[in-house]
Amino acid sequence: MTTGSRARSFSSAAARYADHRPSYPAALFDAVEEMAGFRLAGARVADVGAGTGIASALLHGRGARVVAVEPGEGMAAEFRRRNPGIALVRGDGDRLPLAAASVDLLTYAQSWHWTDPARSGPEALRVLRPGGALAVWSNDPDTGVEWIAEQEARIEKRFGPGWYANKGPRSQPGLDFATRRLRWSRRIPVEAHLAKLSTHSLFLVGEPGTDAFLTAERAELAALFPDGWLREHYTIDLSLAVRAP
Ligand SMILES: C[S@@+](CC[C@H](N)C(=O)[O-])C[C@H]1O[C@@H](n2cnc3c(N)ncnc32)[C@H](O)[C@@H]1O
Repeated sequence: MTTGSRARSFSSAAARYADHRPSYPAALFDAVEEMAGFRLAGARVADVGAGTGIASALLHGRGARVVAVEPGEGMAAEFRRRNPGIALVRGDGDRLPLAAASVDLLTYAQSWHWTDPARSGPEALRVLRPGGALAVWSNDPDTGVEWIAEQEARIEKRFGPGWYANKGPRSQPGLDFATRRLRWSRRIPVEAHLAKLSTHSLFLVGEPGTDAFLTAERAELAALFPDGWLREHYTIDLSLAVRAP
């Protein structure tokens, strides 16, 4: 499977994605404000690779003036169904459909790694106003928790390393990233966890063996969590760069 087909895979299961992917904690947006040096309320924010709008809705809720940018047709349609009050334009991070120096903050919530940083980096610098900020984050299973580390090991054994494609951005000319790590968790039914797992691109592209893997995983987790509930733990890695004033 190519990176391109994985990048496009989300649109095939947009409603399931929106129902089962986790949200982001308020502490993340507090950290963005602190590192950027300005408040979200009133800020012009472009949320790129917005998907079904999980981050866009939270930014909007903090009072930001959000425009979402999303390349995928299915994701964009689901976004519009769920967020009728937030503007969305079709486009991608390598060629942003935004005017020069027009935004205070660009956000990439688990989507920077799908871009070509040789293009998306200069594009970010073009659309940010001087003093504006680019914030990129991932939200990965916390392998410091034993059952999660064991599940990751089972996935890697079956499908190879790197199934979790999120990669932090590297600094490049004009974009000097500072980083911060946050941890959070949520308690959900085992079935909801399996549904969430099935929204990752590895599973969406129909890699052979994914259905059988999820069936075996259901049995593993039933033995570990007999009451049918578990706590997912996440690590958010936030990287933020400010465009020179
Ligand atoms: C893991 S989802 C993240 C969605 C959303 N930001 C969230 O937090 O749930 C990745 C998104 O990146 C989008 N994407 C893929 N290639 C992209 C690109 N080159 N530029 C911007 N977004 C891209 C996908 O269509 C998908 O909606």
